[in-house]
Formats: sequence, C-alpha cells, structure tokens
Amino acid sequence: MKRAKITIVGAGNVGATTAHWCAAGELGDIFLLDIPRTEDMPKGKALDLMQASPIMGFDCNIVGTTDYADTQDSDVVVITAGIPRKPGMSRDDLLGTNAKIVTSVVEQIKTSSPNAIIIVVSNPLDAMVQQALKVSGFPPQRVLGQAGVLDTARYRTFLAMELGVSVEDISALLMGGHGDTMVPMPSCTSVGGIPVTQLLPRKRLDEIVERTRKGGAEIVGLLKTGSAYYAPAAACAQMVEAIVRDKKRLIPCAAHCDKEYGVGGYYVGVPVILGSGGVERIVELELTASEQADFDNSVAAVKELVKVMDGLMAS
Ligand code: NAI
Ligand code: 2OP
Repeated sequence: MKRAKITIVGAGNVGATTAHWCAAGELGDIFLLDIPRTEDMPKGKALDLMQASPIMGFDCNIVGTTDYADTQDSDVVVITAGIPRKPGMSRDDLLGTNAKIVTSVVEQIKTSSPNAIIIVVSNPLDAMVQQALKVSGFPPQRVLGQAGVLDTARYRTFLAMELGVSVEDISALLMGGHGDTMVPMPSCTSVGGIPVTQLLPRKRLDEIVERTRKGGAEIVGLLKTGSAYYAPAAACAQMVEAIVRDKKRLIPCAAHCDKEYGVGGYYVGVPVILGSGGVERIVELELTASEQADFDNSVAAVKELVKVMDGLMAS
C-alpha cells in the first residue's frame, strides 16, 4: 500500500513533535520543512528522529528540508509555522506576524501540493485558518484547524485528575474559537457513560472549565520561553491519522461553518467527521440556550479577530 505523504511546515516545537508522534504511529512518510534561514536544522531533526526508528520499531522516511519541491504532492500539510506566544502575550498578539507567515506558506503549498488537506495550527488559530482558506482557494472541506482536540484533551485531563479515573473513560466536547471564549459542553461530557453533572458539583465543574479555557496560558506561564507542544502535536497527529487512515473520527476541529450553526462563513470549533476527504460533515447539535449564547459570543470574537487581520493585511 502506498504510504501517505505528510508535510509539516515549521520544524519548531509543535512541528518537530508532530513529526515524532506521526512517525511513532507510522502514519506515512514525513517531510519537515522550515525557512532557509534555519539552514540544516530541519535535516538534523529529521535524521535524529529517523535514528530512533530501529529502537522504537517504526518504518517511515523522515526528511528535513527548506525546499517545497521536496514536499511535492503531499496528501496532508500541517502548518505550524509562526511565532508562539511568551508570558503576557495573548494568542491575538501574534496576528500580524503569523498572518504574513501563513500567507506565504499557503501560497507555496497551493502550487506544490494542490490536492492536499491542510491542517492549520499557527495562532491565532481561527483567523489563521480563515487566511489559509482564502489564499489556497481550496474547498473548505480541505482546509481545517487544530484546536478542539487539544482543548478537549486538556478538559478531559483535568476531569480525570479531579475524579481520580482513567482519562480513557472521559468523553467530552468543546466548541467555539481557540481562545478564552471557548465553549465547554457539559451536556456532552460523560465519565464511563455517566453524565459528568452527576459526579461533580456545578461550581467545581465551572472551575475546571475555567482552567481549560486558560490551559494554554498556564503552560506558557510555566515554560516561560514559548507555548505548549506535546499535547498540541499529539492532537495534530490524531487529525492526520483520521485523514490518512480514513477513520471517520467524530472530533472537534476548526471547520468552515456557513449555514451550520448560523455562523455565516467563518472558522470555529465544531464537531466534525474527519476522514480521507477532510471535513466530511459538520455535526450540528441542538444547543441549550446558555450554550448557544456562549457559542455566539465566541463566534463574535472570531469575527472581530478576522476583521482586524483583514485590516492588517490590507494596510
Ligand atoms: P516554534 O517557534 O518552536 O516553531 C515555529 C517554527 O516556524 C520555527 O522553526 C520557525 O523557523 C518556523 N517558521 C517561521 N516562519 C516560517 C515560514 N515562513 N515557513 C516555514 N517555517 C517557518 O513555535 P511552536 O511552539 O512550534 O508554535 C508554532 C505555532 O503554533 C505558534 O503560532 C503557536 O502559537 C501555535 N500553536 C497553536 C496551537 C493550537 O492549538 N492551535 C497549540 C500550540 C501552538
Ligand atoms: C495552546 O493552547 C498556544 O494555542 C496554544 O497551548
């Protein structure tokens, strides 16, 4: 069977760790690309990772490069290029710099890998994926963003820590933008099939939701030199796997919602079916009045971010 070709743009913390998880899962051959200024750094990381394969027992080629020609006709391209935030910065502070980086990356991908599915990771996520759609001209099913898998994983981790149960038994969903307005859905959260609201008092659940919303900032505050990468990269690998193995996973991703949820043509975190066609379906849930209000608030924040980005890119 032909191996999938997976390109990861940005060989920094998230990019290199995504390569690591994808290699460990034997998801395909991996091309780790960075800017020429980084010289041989992507080659060094790729070779180092390849040399782990006899020990860990995975078979795949891992190539480091600064040349898009090597990435020709990739099946999946994960974009992690851009600057991460430092303590005191919000994701939105990255807007101007990263919009230019994502634009230049996508301009090259659209000619080198015209049939690829693009997963955007660079922040601020919801605006960056909107920009990737615009620049690529790809159908929206083939352009999506990673945030919900990570945010949901953080929520599941905190719930497992609180309840003293296996993370495997926590099933949960978060919607909305990747920011402080993200919308945890207690009505879609269960532990071994038991609604979480039967196991935790509302006040404690609200505190866990708040910690989840600030989960990225908590890691930035601890690391001090950059932002999270192990869990974000694991989230990317899960999305890559869903695509290259056509798994039809039902997971939250930043997907282009037009009529769906009445969003009107913006990217926002929603449950989707993810398979070889990319976003094969957006799953529409009936939201409670309070969930709908929180979701609308989050969509408004995304729209404002896109407006600011469009202004910056036009000037
Ligand atoms: P990093 O600084 O470790 O790596 C970024 C890499 O991008 C660097 O190696 C840099 O040389 C490269 N780069 C810059 N411009 C480029 C270009 N034009 N083409 C190719 N490569 C280019 O940063 P890290 O920690 O890997 O984060 C990357 C981005 O992902 C940040 O914007 C961060 O905020 C975002 N992020 C998003 C998450 C999400 O859930 N959506 C989670 C974690 C990080
Ligand atoms: C995070 O949530 C930085 O967006 C990244 O960790």
